[in-house]
Amino acid sequence: MASVIIRLMIQAFLYCLMVQIGFGIEYYVAAVYEHHSILNSNPTALSDRKSALEFMFRNLDIYEQQVNIASKKGVQIIVFPEDGIHGFNYSRMSIYPYLDLLPSSYSLTWNPCLEPNKFQDTEVLQRLSCMAKEGRMFVVANLGTKVPCEQEDPKCPPDGRYHFNTNVVFSDNGTLIARYFKQNLYFEYGFDIPPHVQHVIFHTPFARFGLFTCFDILFYEPVVTLIEKFKVKHLVYPTAWMNQLPLLSSIQIHRAFATGFNINILAANIHHTTLGMSGSGIFSPLSSSYHFDMGSENGQLIIAKVPVDPSEELCQGDEDWGSVLKSETFEDNVIYTSSQSCHSEDRNGHCGGGAAGEYGSFNAEMMYDNFTFVPLNTSQGTIQVCGGKLCCYVTYQKQNSTKELYALGVFDGLHTVHGQYSLQICALVKCGSLNATTCGQEVTDANGVFTFKLWGNFSTKYVFPMIVTSGVNLQLPDWWGWKDNHCYMRKKTMDLGLVTAALYGRYYERD
Ligand SMILES: *[C@@H]1O[C@H](CO)[C@@H](O)[C@H](O)[C@H]1NC(C)=O
Ligand SMILES: *[C@@H]1O[C@H](CO)[C@@H](O)[C@H](O)[C@H]1NC(C)=O
Ligand SMILES: *[C@@H]1O[C@H](CO)[C@@H](O)[C@H](O)[C@H]1NC(C)=O
Ligand SMILES: *[C@@H]1O[C@H](CO)[C@@H](O)[C@H](O)[C@H]1NC(C)=O
Ligand SMILES: *[C@@H]1O[C@H](CO)[C@@H](O)[C@H](O)[C@H]1NC(C)=O
Ligand SMILES: *[C@@H]1O[C@H](CO)[C@@H](O)[C@H](O)[C@H]1NC(C)=O
Ligand SMILES: *[C@@H]1O[C@H](CO)[C@@H](O)[C@H](O)[C@H]1NC(C)=O
Repeated sequence: MASVIIRLMIQAFLYCLMVQIGFGIEYYVAAVYEHHSILNSNPTALSDRKSALEFMFRNLDIYEQQVNIASKKGVQIIVFPEDGIHGFNYSRMSIYPYLDLLPSSYSLTWNPCLEPNKFQDTEVLQRLSCMAKEGRMFVVANLGTKVPCEQEDPKCPPDGRYHFNTNVVFSDNGTLIARYFKQNLYFEYGFDIPPHVQHVIFHTPFARFGLFTCFDILFYEPVVTLIEKFKVKHLVYPTAWMNQLPLLSSIQIHRAFATGFNINILAANIHHTTLGMSGSGIFSPLSSSYHFDMGSENGQLIIAKVPVDPSEELCQGDEDWGSVLKSETFEDNVIYTSSQSCHSEDRNGHCGGGAAGEYGSFNAEMMYDNFTFVPLNTSQGTIQVCGGKLCCYVTYQKQNSTKELYALGVFDGLHTVHGQYSLQICALVKCGSLNATTCGQEVTDANGVFTFKLWGNFSTKYVFPMIVTSGVNLQLPDWWGWKDNHCYMRKKTMDLGLVTAALYGRYYERD
């Protein structure tokens, strides 16, 4: 991502100049709706189309109310979450009555609201299309669809149809303009993986958007291709995300993704605290409007102005990153002292590998991965921890003395639980208690306030910076980027205690 940062700096400079001499920033108005969905209590039971529709219309009634509210506030595009209409945990048999038909022709121009009788089994599409038309806004929603296939297609299921987890997009006059079939399914037995990866982009008068869904955010296809090859700057993202701290809370990953790729992301999640689902928002590289609430069961509409060019925001970000980029040259010389750094490395480059105790390193499980940790047991200093080919460092100063255990952890390897993906991670976390065996456990509150610099020698350029503070609040680094093959993140002031500061690297090539 080094080149991205340099490009960013040049662009930031030019745009800031333009903004200062009065060109102003162009925005559009977006909304995401965190939906407390009405769930099917017995999703594997067989149903008929009529009851399935009655059920789904209860969720669609709520969608319609939200579009009406959004319409009065000038919203131009609204995003609803994954599984928000039909729910989850269906089997291939039991989901059938919940599926709308999607005609297999892509070139078809169809306005389901105006042409309701063109195809059978399209009642959900018709309602969404009418909402878009009545509300005069682009509507993005997720539903289950059935798409007929030919037996000559080697991937066509034996029953002659695909079942897809589908995002659809309607233009502000109700025309169906895009559909995307989720690539990376997450234990969804009712759905099929599409026979080909879909890179779906749709156009509006205000911006050009890419589409992806939930678990897709952890994989190269389709989203990295959308960003890098197709130069997409805005992503719409329906999700049904179960939060998992310290590293993968919904808003945490949305924020890190927007900052890491320098894009805007419109993320709509389901709201069900019993399932660990909450956290939606509208994120641009330096600002965000988000909602996270584990204390009630209410839905939430989030509306925000989004910069048409996410780079322009660098001129006026809260954290004043723009002026940092303009004015500062970084004193990013490596400042750990040899007495505090690694004294001896074992054959695998593990710092103090054989000599736990001496350097105080220990192993503990975090998010099902075997991390190596070193505790932060003094009020300031620099520590190092290595694992595999990755060495992580933190130079820190703890601002207030709290009785809490923090540790710096490293992981370089393949994650294999609930999906396989390769990771390189440097993470400073608050442990569950003062006992080191609890480092890596889920923690939501903390009091320790730090000034720190965190860095590591990553082998992948896809590193996402994340800072979570007490109560699951988000912070941006004061600065992050690359220098001498190390990825850095720096933070000087925090008004809440630190829960997690991490450089989350995805090593796609090694999957
Ligand atoms: C769906 O299945 C998951 C995993 O088996 C379970 O944790 C969850 O409670 C189920 N959700 C519903 C709504 O049935
Ligand atoms: C409806 O919107 C689509 C897509 O934006 C556009 O191509 C079409 O011309 C519009 N139709 C009418 C009748 O305005
Ligand atoms: C603090 O940790 C360092 C290494 O991380 C270790 O050498 C030292 O003994 C520890 N000190 C205390 C007081 O636990
Ligand atoms: C974690 O890794 C360490 C060495 O890297 C190893 O000694 C330990 O057995 C591993 N723990 C588990 C639970 O696999
Ligand atoms: C990272 O640094 C460690 C310690 O210097 C070294 O052993 C390792 O090979 C480095 N990794 C990469 C990818 O350069
Ligand atoms: C440390 O600072 C945080 C944030 O200001 C505060 O919430 C916490 O109570 C402080 N703790 C101590 C022990 O000073
Ligand atoms: C830390 O936790 C482990 C595992 O729960 C336990 O065996 C150990 O006794 C604890 N250590 C202390 C000092 O409490």
